[in-house]
Amino acid sequence: MTQPDQQANVVPTPKHIAIIMDGNGRWAEAQGQPRVMGHRAGVKSVRDVVALCRQHQVESLTLFAFSSENWRRPEGEVKLLMRLFSVVLRREAKLLKRNDVRLKIIGDVSGFDQKLQVRIRQAEADTAHCQGMVLNIAANYGGRWDVVNAARKLADLAVQGEIVPSDIDEVLFDRFTSLSDQPEVDLLIRTGGEQRISNFLLWQCAYSELFFSDALWPDFGETALQEALDSFASRQRRFGLTSAQVATVE
Ligand code: IPE
Ligand code: IPE
Ligand code: MG
Repeated sequence: MTQPDQQANVVPTPKHIAIIMDGNGRWAEAQGQPRVMGHRAGVKSVRDVVALCRQHQVESLTLFAFSSENWRRPEGEVKLLMRLFSVVLRREAKLLKRNDVRLKIIGDVSGFDQKLQVRIRQAEADTAHCQGMVLNIAANYGGRWDVVNAARKLADLAVQGEIVPSDIDEVLFDRFTSLSDQPEVDLLIRTGGEQRISNFLLWQCAYSELFFSDALWPDFGETALQEALDSFASRQRRFGLTSAQVATVE
């Protein structure tokens, strides 16, 4: 990942926003509907938030859609989520292309069935030339998986004699993680009222500002996003320095 501007605490808009989209099930249950209706309703929030981030000239948006732990949910819910993912990929790729948004799926894609894997590759290829914003969808993603995956690749290189262990530093390690080509995550938002990371971007959120919203994901829209952006803009990012040091640098 490119290093953040560690001297700037004047932060108009985050370059990279990551969101744990939580609360779909509770949204549906509150209306006496099956949980899956919440996932369906959540797709509209995804579309809206992508458009809003694009307007705010965010460079990267990373959405947590399905965690490596979510396979443990009831079979019917997992099946529906897979089907929904597949339908959305096909349907939305055109819209992303029109809005100049490049799609990237992060996570262990090999865990999906072949048809879905083909669709993922197709949607990524369709938008590969887009430059307005990158939309990363984390699917079968786990922060620990990401770190282990990078370690394994580095171990392979060491075994092949291409690197020695002392070559491994944070910069080299980062190169083998999922979002290495993108700015650091400036702002991590979690909706749905819970305040935990749930094995999302562990390496990448080392210095992210955190914002927790009580809004359930299907209710998350312009107002809630603006609240998060306002909160972000009011923070002083110190990166280990003191307040006074940061003020001198300004
Ligand atoms: C987030 O909403 C979507 C996924 C994890 C796929 P949830 O389904 O976790 O909703 P709640 O937390 O049960 O309300
Ligand atoms: C995190 O939500 C995963 C996604 C949003 C995809 P969960 O609802 O699965 O998280 P926990 O299990 O409550 O921590
Ligand atoms: Mg949840």
